[in-house]
Amino acid sequence: MKNFHYHMPVDLFFGQGQLQQLAPQMKRFGNRVLLVYGGGSIKRNGIYQQIMDIFAQEQISFWELSGVEPNPRLETVVRGVELCREHQIELVLAVGGGSSIDCAKVVAGSVQYDGSPWDIVLDSSLAQDVLPIGVVLTLSATGSEMDPMAVITNTQLNLKYGVGHPDFIPKFSILDPTFTYSVPASQTAAGTADMMSHTFENYFTLQDGAFISNRLAEAVLQTCIQYAPIALREPDNYEARANLMWASSLAINGLLKYGKDCPWSVHAMEHALSAYYDVTHGVGLAILTPAWMEYILDDTTAQMFADYGYHVWQLERSLDTMSAAKAAINKTREFFASLGIPMSLRQLGIPEDMLETMAKSAPKGGNTINGVKPLHWQDVLNIYKMAY
Ligand code: NZQ
Ligand code: ZN
Repeated sequence: MKNFHYHMPVDLFFGQGQLQQLAPQMKRFGNRVLLVYGGGSIKRNGIYQQIMDIFAQEQISFWELSGVEPNPRLETVVRGVELCREHQIELVLAVGGGSSIDCAKVVAGSVQYDGSPWDIVLDSSLAQDVLPIGVVLTLSATGSEMDPMAVITNTQLNLKYGVGHPDFIPKFSILDPTFTYSVPASQTAAGTADMMSHTFENYFTLQDGAFISNRLAEAVLQTCIQYAPIALREPDNYEARANLMWASSLAINGLLKYGKDCPWSVHAMEHALSAYYDVTHGVGLAILTPAWMEYILDDTTAQMFADYGYHVWQLERSLDTMSAAKAAINKTREFFASLGIPMSLRQLGIPEDMLETMAKSAPKGGNTINGVKPLHWQDVLNIYKMAY
């Protein structure tokens, strides 16, 4: 096990009714709030009204950045920065899924920076005096409620990049599983694929792993496998929504990777798809993950995938290593398909002749993704073709 530093400074409030924590948490940071949210789901499911009531009761001054897109765009971040400057905002409060949270993070990090927020996406050290960020989570998927990352899309450059900064970790996050009852089936499925992918990215490695981290990762995967089908059948099943919500945070808050090196592979390949075709992040991951597993399956990786099959899918130990690895990959694909996710890039309407362009843009600032196995852009193209 490698050395590590565990520092997770978010105040996280989990469970039904925890919105009661919003006022005391906000007041730690000030009285002037930028409320960041998406295309209106929070108005339809009543969360917006609950927040308005709290703002009124507590005499919070607030301004709104609404309409944050799934795959949040640079222009929206710029709009948020202007609002913060104009109204001397003291806290940026995201109410929504990863897109609203990520947008809020880069807004908060760009207020004191004179240039474009895109510079900060490329170089997070430019973010100074990041405004405090608060979160009310409404969708279990990205783990942005408990991590230092944000992902922003630049539609002019066809780039979607992640950026990390320690001060992008929310100061507080409120996770009420009942707020996810209204999440549609397609987003429940995509969110599950996303949190499973975060777990895979932290789990699969050819270097010496950390036993305890791997067993924790398997628990998160089993939670997704157990509860996503229940949440799809019964959207207001509290136990299912609660387990998925906590799994989303645990998958990416660092816990699963302590003590090991985790070279991520699939996310960069997905971000290139979203940058060009506004693909739902979790859907792209579900399509690419089994193809990637198959592509890198050989004598050096078979044990890794076989262990995943034995531990997570309870495959028979009598299976030889390569057969178990193949069976585990098939189980993964079948599971995503069973959630109703379209399982090919063709079904997303991506033209085949664009695969090469996207493959070339997938490695951030280079030719190669340094994943479990290094992936040159030509490898990425091969994986896209397998997933087509
Ligand atoms: O926009 P509204 O109207 O709110 O509707 C949203 C949106 O259409 C809807 N939704 C959210 N909560 C709902 C709801 N609908 C009904 N009831 C609710 N309670 O769901 C749709 C998707 O929302 P979005 O926020 O885009 O989804 P998600 O949480 O999956 O976030 C995706 C973004 O996060 C990035 C992705 O790349 C993508 O841009 N990621 C962020 C990461 C991070 N910060 O660490 C890591 C991830 O790997 C990922 O890359
Ligand atoms: Zn993800």
